Amino acid sequence: MADLSFPPGFVFGAGTAAFQIEGATAADGRGPSIWDTFCAEPGRVAGGDTGEPACEHYRRWPQDVELLRRLGVDSYRFSVAWPRVRPTGSGAVNRAGLDFYERLVDGLLAAGIEPALTLYHWDLPQELEDGGGWRARDTAHRFAEYAAVVAGALADRVPRWTTLNEPWCSAFLGYGNGVHAPGVRSGTPALAAAHHLLLGHGLALEALRAAGVREAGISLNLDHVSPADPDSPADAAAALRARTQRNLVWTEPLLRGRHPASEADTWGELIGRQDFRRDGDLAVIAAPMDFLGVNYYTPATVRAAPYAEPDPSLRDATDNRFAHVRDPRARHTAMDWAVVPDTLRELLVGLRDEYGAALPPLYVTENGSAEDDLPGPDGTVRDTDRIAYLDGHLRAVAGALAAGVDVRGYYLWSLLDNFEWSYGYGKRFGAVHVDYATQRRTPKSSFAWYRELISRHRASS
Ligand code: FCB
Repeated sequence: MADLSFPPGFVFGAGTAAFQIEGATAADGRGPSIWDTFCAEPGRVAGGDTGEPACEHYRRWPQDVELLRRLGVDSYRFSVAWPRVRPTGSGAVNRAGLDFYERLVDGLLAAGIEPALTLYHWDLPQELEDGGGWRARDTAHRFAEYAAVVAGALADRVPRWTTLNEPWCSAFLGYGNGVHAPGVRSGTPALAAAHHLLLGHGLALEALRAAGVREAGISLNLDHVSPADPDSPADAAAALRARTQRNLVWTEPLLRGRHPASEADTWGELIGRQDFRRDGDLAVIAAPMDFLGVNYYTPATVRAAPYAEPDPSLRDATDNRFAHVRDPRARHTAMDWAVVPDTLRELLVGLRDEYGAALPPLYVTENGSAEDDLPGPDGTVRDTDRIAYLDGHLRAVAGALAAGVDVRGYYLWSLLDNFEWSYGYGKRFGAVHVDYATQRRTPKSSFAWYRELISRHRASS
């Protein structure tokens, strides 16, 4: 790793999200979220896993802050559970919920770790879902109110704020193909959800500014998309549809204040009358951000394909006439995700080339791999595949920096093994192994590797 270096001030971090680690889903007045409901429906989550016990972080957070301190990270990225702070999404504020995050933030600061707070990592209060969830415009306004409440309590101590984490998942997994909560399969309503998430981001940004937050942005899971056959015009068009669904639907409104020119070819009839869009929305959505967070795991290779569902009235919003092609040369992680690290460099350089001065500074806000980690007889986990994954992707970030891209930091996903959404507890992304039965935490070899990288960086800058 001696040849892997980063500029002075580069932020090294690690991340988690509320529903994935906290547990305590009924403690201290927390209301139900769409993920509690979804987990309770048979067949939705592998093994019938739920948000309990997760990592019992709600109680064990001091131990987790101590792990972060030992890791030596500059910053910790976590999310606030909306249903802890405002249990029904629109009624009274729950002081006990806010208190938890105040304790956590104070604990981080006392340990010399900069808190990086995400307002929404997918745990919508169930009562808002009952009123339409993100399909309803009203939810964007409720989100801005919630942002104001959290910022009112924490703006003085939290320097870096993210509105939404991966709105693509909320819109297209939540309301498109239905593999995430609330588990709705739909066409046009999923596109309305995407729009209302963007609007909610813009309105929340206004609330954060009003509370004095200076560093605010959004985290997007952006894809590196390649056509299966580089010489095929049909595959090139399919790749553009995939990029539209994954990337451009977010980056064009946020960074250019317009909808992607390729949206009609991507969604056809589903775009419909667009009555969920109103005059003035794009100006709210495109308000300047201080950074763009990029979450990155694996590239996509796609080929042209017919609609999976020929009838537009039955078609879901992820059905855009492209199909994924497996890369036979790449190693695949336990998620069956191809490992091709240099695609992260290409993605970051591509963003800069495409958006130029309109692109704010970047952070890689998530990157990591799930591996089939098995503790050895001595309890240690030698996760050499994860180390190779992290090494490769950090080299890709260094490559983007060398090409002049303004990347300010990197957050490893994840500090802890945790609840991996519809995969449940079976997929482990942590630098720290968690035994869910005993809640014992055991740092893996990758923890020591990352700690060493950070301490070398400190020593040399
Ligand atoms: C991202 C999510 C994060 C985690 C990783 C593996 O899509 O933001 O919560 O599940 O994937």
